[in-house]
Amino acid sequence: MTVPPPIVAPSILAADFAHLAREVRAVEHAADWLHVDVMDNHFVPNLTIGLPVVQSLRAATELPFDVHLMIEDPRRWAPGYADAGAYNVTFHAEACDDPVALAKDLRSAGAKAGLAIDRDTPIEPYLELLPSFDTLLIMTIKAGFGGQRFIPQLLDKVRAARRHVAAGHLELRIEVDGGIAADTIEQAAAAGADAFVAGTAVYGADDPAEAVRRLRGLAERAMTGA
Ligand code: DX5
Ligand code: ZN
Repeated sequence: MTVPPPIVAPSILAADFAHLAREVRAVEHAADWLHVDVMDNHFVPNLTIGLPVVQSLRAATELPFDVHLMIEDPRRWAPGYADAGAYNVTFHAEACDDPVALAKDLRSAGAKAGLAIDRDTPIEPYLELLPSFDTLLIMTIKAGFGGQRFIPQLLDKVRAARRHVAAGHLELRIEVDGGIAADTIEQAAAAGADAFVAGTAVYGADDPAEAVRRLRGLAERAMTGA
């Protein structure tokens, strides 16, 4: 079986919001996707950015946007991010009563569709829905804030998802988000993740581009078992 190259997606949540375009350019030639955390102060207590910022930022970089919606009522808001040119739009399973319908809407708006599973949500009820999705984001922290400590027990969900994807020959990226850094990315990759969000580990580094390359190298080795 061929292993697709890992995706590394720096999260701008850890960037300097006063200089977003500059911060994005710092990883432009190193990153695969740019992870954009949208929080609404309802689904999670934190509040970040919304559609106008994503629209403006879209013109400032060539990087594909991996939009992570931590919001209530994603059926109302998610398609707008697809229309704004997001490559992938991920919404939370906990916030949506018909995830398959929203995935269809996102795909017909030209984006890939992502399903996110928060810390306290079991994966099993959602495995059957995966053929409708392009990405599955498994939180390795409780969604809401950057800079939290990685929870290794949550990798059991990654393992279960990887087994399901392999058995069904599904084409789906399994993404991990939260506390991903040089000391945690290998275990996430070994568990079956193939897309890695990193905020603090990238933007907290002196050289964000170099941090991305280092993370990719570690993931690659762990994914191929080399
Ligand atoms: C938190 C966000 C993450 C966050 C990760 O809910 O979904 O994307 O930016 O930050 P780190 O990598 O610092 O844990
Ligand atoms: Zn995120």
